[in-house]
Amino acid sequence: MKTICICNQKGGVAKTTTAVNLAAILARDFGRRVLVIDADSQGNATSFLGGDREKVGVAAMLRRELSDEKPLELQTTNVPGVSLIAGSPDLMDLDLSKAGDGRADVTCLRELRRALEQREKIAAAVKSDERNEKLAAVIYGESFDFCIVDCPPAFNAASSAALIAADAVLIPVKLDAFALEGMANLMRQIANMRRLNPKLQLLGVLPVMWYRSDTIQLAESALRSAGLKVLPRIRRSDRVDDMTYHQQPLIVCSPRSAPCRDYRALASWIVGQERKEAAEAAQEPKAAGKPLRGHDVETGKRRGRPRKAERIATAACALPRNDREGGAENG
Ligand SMILES: Nc1ncnc2c1ncn2[C@@H]1O[C@H](COP(=O)(O)OP(=O)(O)O)[C@@H](O)[C@H]1O
Ligand SMILES: [Mg+2]
Repeated sequence: MKTICICNQKGGVAKTTTAVNLAAILARDFGRRVLVIDADSQGNATSFLGGDREKVGVAAMLRRELSDEKPLELQTTNVPGVSLIAGSPDLMDLDLSKAGDGRADVTCLRELRRALEQREKIAAAVKSDERNEKLAAVIYGESFDFCIVDCPPAFNAASSAALIAADAVLIPVKLDAFALEGMANLMRQIANMRRLNPKLQLLGVLPVMWYRSDTIQLAESALRSAGLKVLPRIRRSDRVDDMTYHQQPLIVCSPRSAPCRDYRALASWIVGQERKEAAEAAQEPKAAGKPLRGHDVETGKRRGRPRKAERIATAACALPRNDREGGAENG
């Protein structure tokens, strides 16, 4: 199971939009079994997917309240193939100080992840015995290929739990100057979390609500110059606001819209990565080719001298070494 958390401490940058659309496309177009974990007290992903915020979810896990009488509730959603663990308003009380004094269990999502992976192994083992096919189908039906965590617009116990559990973090950004200012801070927080989760990868920065403009293009190249992997953009469209009223993902209500096509391309890239990693895991590890210093990672061409505005923006989002493209996790 690949666990991706959608994270940015800013609100209104399409974290929930990205989480629910990615989940729906992975399930519908690629036949993947997807679990969405709503780690935000606003519970937008929960309500969008038709879930119930009252059911036992992330807050109870963080508070160590799960028991035989109060088990975690995995909910089905209005998107076939997508299951949900609910977020609820009581997540708001769980700030980071509660993790420090042990009142919030920030390892809970990592434990859940391990339990789900264990379940998958059991399903595979049971499946090999023909007499147990039905039992295997039940266990298999409750395990997942992808887990997508919709993070809150804050650095708190829930977002820490997500970053501790995740394989990778995807950062949606709306390309304005405020977004660039917050980026260095976010990168530092991710670097800090690597002390607890050394394998955490930065999947990339995802420009959202994109439209053609010189400043946006400048901001994109500033992120690249800062060494970040900038993923193909998600275009802006009113269809996304409409989607929130229809309570159906873009592939259902606006399949031909620009952002739907962009999210499909993103999902396809993620599935490609998943396949590549599976193939690599099956092979001997081989030395990864690193780009030459001063050369573009994607094209291999020598990078020109950045423009002045770019240099200023680059300095504004100076990153810890590990998050530079071609750094430890990307090289
Ligand atoms: N590609 C897009 N084009 C236009 N509006 C968008 C797009 N993506 C998101 N939005 C809108 O931006 C707002 C914030 O999105 P949301 O996913 O709730 O952000 P977050 O979860 O980061 O707070 C919503 O009103 C949503 O409809
Ligand atoms: Mg949200």
